[in-house]
Amino acid sequence: MANQARETRVFSGIQPSGGLTLGNYLGALKRFVALQDSGTESIYCIVDLHAITVWQEPSELRLATRQAAAGFIAAGIDPDRSILFNQSQVHSHAELAWLFNCVARMGWLGRMTQFKDKAGKNRENASVGLFAYPALMAADILVYHATHVPVGEDQKQHLELTREIAGKFNHDYGVDFFPIIEPVIEGAATRIMSLRDGKVKMSKSDRSDMSRINLTDDADAIAKKIRRARTDAQPLPGTLDGLDGRPEARNLINIYAALDEREPQGVAAEFAGRLFSEFKPRLADLAVAKLEPVTSEMNRLMEDQAEIDRILGDGAGKAAELAEPILADAYDIAGMIRSRR
Ligand code: TYM
Repeated sequence: MANQARETRVFSGIQPSGGLTLGNYLGALKRFVALQDSGTESIYCIVDLHAITVWQEPSELRLATRQAAAGFIAAGIDPDRSILFNQSQVHSHAELAWLFNCVARMGWLGRMTQFKDKAGKNRENASVGLFAYPALMAADILVYHATHVPVGEDQKQHLELTREIAGKFNHDYGVDFFPIIEPVIEGAATRIMSLRDGKVKMSKSDRSDMSRINLTDDADAIAKKIRRARTDAQPLPGTLDGLDGRPEARNLINIYAALDEREPQGVAAEFAGRLFSEFKPRLADLAVAKLEPVTSEMNRLMEDQAEIDRILGDGAGKAAELAEPILADAYDIAGMIRSRR
């Protein structure tokens, strides 16, 4: 498959299950904005159909969807330059996902570590949607013939599966139809860790609110969480090698670098030999300076929810125009008669 021959088109998504975290902001949103600003055609989706693979209170789902939209815009996504919408408004995602449910193999989905983690010991009671989720994710991307997918490290396995699904569809039907996508997992922030434990990912589902910075946190909360972040007793080393075996220190250096748009090496060199008692207040000031404008813009946007809904509706209209012909071609390839007028 010659991806080079295809126009570069970026697609990515974020679940509206709970609020956005610093992990989503640095690992995804900030990178989406950079891609948009580089002039790459970009499609960004708030994946509400994914969110309901685990229970969501309808009123909370609506709020989280609008808040995520506000987060995208406050972070710098411009709905006139990128397509921004919520997944359920474009029915082609769910329809292509059905074709992919019939392409993907049980064994492939059974290997997904995220399913194993989320379903836990109670697998029999997990929703069928939670198991089938990666086929929907592949459909999200491939229904636009997107070529590049910026994500954090935790989504890598799902993107490998997307490549397998595209390859098997092309092979089974003897076509060169779906692109074999490129994951884009780059920079200091592809895996932001919990502030309480440097070995687990920062996540909206962690029980401890102190483990994460939420994009809705005010300056005091941000500073307090950074002050209380778990660290070790050693001074900071001047090089990244010196951070081996010190996951919490490594994480705070990465967060500093990503917020300040610098390389982690430079940050480590700047703070060589300093104690966390000096580093943490600097990190807290930086985090507040960078996040406060985003949070206040989100709050401002949330005051006009009808406007957010209008933006999502407009984006969905543009997305549907791109997706529908690709879905129709996929149905034709699979042998579905489409004669309805
Ligand atoms: P979700 O909603 O869990 O996360 C959205 C994006 O944020 C990234 N991310 C992180 N990056 C760095 N450090 C962290 N601690 C961190 N936490 C989250 C994720 O890697 C992701 O890029 N299945 C996806 C949503 C999805 C999707 C798609 C993504 C659905 N369809 C199609 C790309 C393309 C998910 O649950 O992301």
